[in-house]
Amino acid sequence: MKKIAVLLRSNVDQWLALLRAALPQHIVVGDVAEAAGAAYAVVGTPAPGVLAALEELEVVFSVNAGIEALLESGEVPDGIPIVRMVDDGLAEGMLEWVLATTLAWHRNLFAYRDRQSKGIWAPLREVLARDRRVTVLGAGHLGGRVAGALAQIGFNTRAWSRTAKQIPNVVSFAGDDALQGAVKDADILINLLPLTPATENLLDAPLLSHLASHAVLINAGRGRHLVDQAVLDSLKGGRLRAAVLDVFRDEPLPQSHPFWHHPGIYITPHVAAPTHPATAVAAIAENLRRFEAGAELRHVVDVARGY
Ligand SMILES: NC(=O)c1ccc[n+]([C@@H]2O[C@H](COP(=O)([O-])OP(=O)(O)OC[C@H]3O[C@@H](n4cnc5c(N)ncnc54)[C@H](OP(=O)(O)O)[C@@H]3O)[C@@H](O)[C@H]2O)c1
Repeated sequence: MKKIAVLLRSNVDQWLALLRAALPQHIVVGDVAEAAGAAYAVVGTPAPGVLAALEELEVVFSVNAGIEALLESGEVPDGIPIVRMVDDGLAEGMLEWVLATTLAWHRNLFAYRDRQSKGIWAPLREVLARDRRVTVLGAGHLGGRVAGALAQIGFNTRAWSRTAKQIPNVVSFAGDDALQGAVKDADILINLLPLTPATENLLDAPLLSHLASHAVLINAGRGRHLVDQAVLDSLKGGRLRAAVLDVFRDEPLPQSHPFWHHPGIYITPHVAAPTHPATAVAAIAENLRRFEAGAELRHVVDVARGY
């Protein structure tokens, strides 16, 4: 019987119960003291030295889709595959959050709320989705699904990724040389890239300068994709009319950060797509069974590429 060590800091009992139910042929432990001999580890960002001590470790399963913190921690021993979280719960959560924020801006809900607070009845110019240009940066499991759904609603949708994609009614842009064209004149820019050396600080002043005037920036990737000062300057200069931000360089966002009180900035506390243990365990269990049946693991991180 192979052992699974759940090395998480919260909801451990729930993860243990779900994993034991899904994988009854395995020993599932939730305490570092019992982890010796584990073949599999389920981790977020593990405490220093814990993974290195697992001499029979075969696979690390991350409970997060973004694994930059795990890679940067250097805690995963060389040669051990890292499986990132790809599951329906994450994709559905992200889709809901992005659609909610995009549609709220598209239909001026925040502006009407503001007018309501002042007792003002004043219709704004309402635009059809087909006349709104939306660009999604990242067209993977999350970005691809989001871009497809936005196109289905009718938005004039573009998606940018490293390799070209075929998503119905979405114009695909691939590679560094295509980035400027992908964001040019976008009314709404949505970031769903992974954080890697190639994407860090990508959302800087030169990039934002290509957006349409009074564009809306929506960031649910990572805080380090964004140059904070460029967002503040773009709001001041009118390139941006709003930024909806779920992720930040430092989390929780420090109380002294100017984002907190900026009227053009809308903050959610990294909740766009939380990992739901039930769907996450189903994804881990399916992949682990594949692995033990001799098939290739799915969603293994390419460490050199960083995602
Ligand atoms: N806010 C939240 O609650 C939350 C929750 C979950 C995830 N996230 C963030 O969302 C990110 C994306 O997740 P995912 O599951 O969609 O990842 P994914 O499936 O790996 O997709 C990543 C996409 O980004 C593209 N990409 C990566 N590096 C690029 C580069 N240098 N230039 C152009 N395109 C590049 C990839 O291109 P290819 O397809 O060509 O490889 C791919 O389309 C995560 O890494 C995480 O940071 C946030």
